[in-house]
Amino acid sequence: MKPVFLITAGPTREYFDPVRFISNPSSGKMGYALARAARDAGARVVLVSGPVALSPPRGVTVVPVGTAIEMRRAVLRHSRSSDVVIMAAAVADYRPSRTLRRKMKKGPGRISVAMVRTRDILAEMGKGKGKTRLVGFAAETGSIVREATRKLRAKNLDMIVANNISRRDSGFASDFNKAVILHRDGKIERLPLMPKPRLARHIVSRCMEMLDA
Ligand code: CTP
Repeated sequence: MKPVFLITAGPTREYFDPVRFISNPSSGKMGYALARAARDAGARVVLVSGPVALSPPRGVTVVPVGTAIEMRRAVLRHSRSSDVVIMAAAVADYRPSRTLRRKMKKGPGRISVAMVRTRDILAEMGKGKGKTRLVGFAAETGSIVREATRKLRAKNLDMIVANNISRRDSGFASDFNKAVILHRDGKIERLPLMPKPRLARHIVSRCMEMLDA
């Protein structure tokens, strides 16, 4: 039987009124490359995608979402039937505490938006993951291995792909990525700068190895 991969991609948008939101520059390229690589490796793929400007990969089931709450709902719905879950999405950690029903009108003074934490989807899945293999991403600007190790353990992951988002030649919106992959058994792979599709194939083949083990 074909293994089932659930992959998330892109940013989330956290609205404070119907037309304004807080988000991040994630392009979705890494997640979409992972979806293609998993499909090409023979998997059935569900791609939960935040708003991105990419065309849906052929042969992949795309579930479009907007907010972190919608992403969580879609992921939880599909995760139970998945063999591998890869959270490549840049999920917002905070959302405005309320979303106004009508467009906010401007006034003379300054405004502030109160923010509350969103739920950590990956950590939640790590709690009762059973046999599902969990792969996270870590966007860091310093102490990459230390931070990624902490996230791997805290979220009960099998693998985490860490990258330095302060580099100008990789990460957010770039076609390239320079990643360090940390495995549950402590193995660390420091990969050179490479195109995202190539990194995606590497990650998918590591996932296939985990399923075979
Ligand atoms: N993630 C998630 N749900 C969230 C936030 C993050 O599932 N609400 C996932 C991301 O998809 C990624 C991993 O957690 O796979 C790590 O995300 P990152 O932003 O690097 O780390 P955080 O755990 O949010 O920690 P911090 O922002 O403090 O570095």
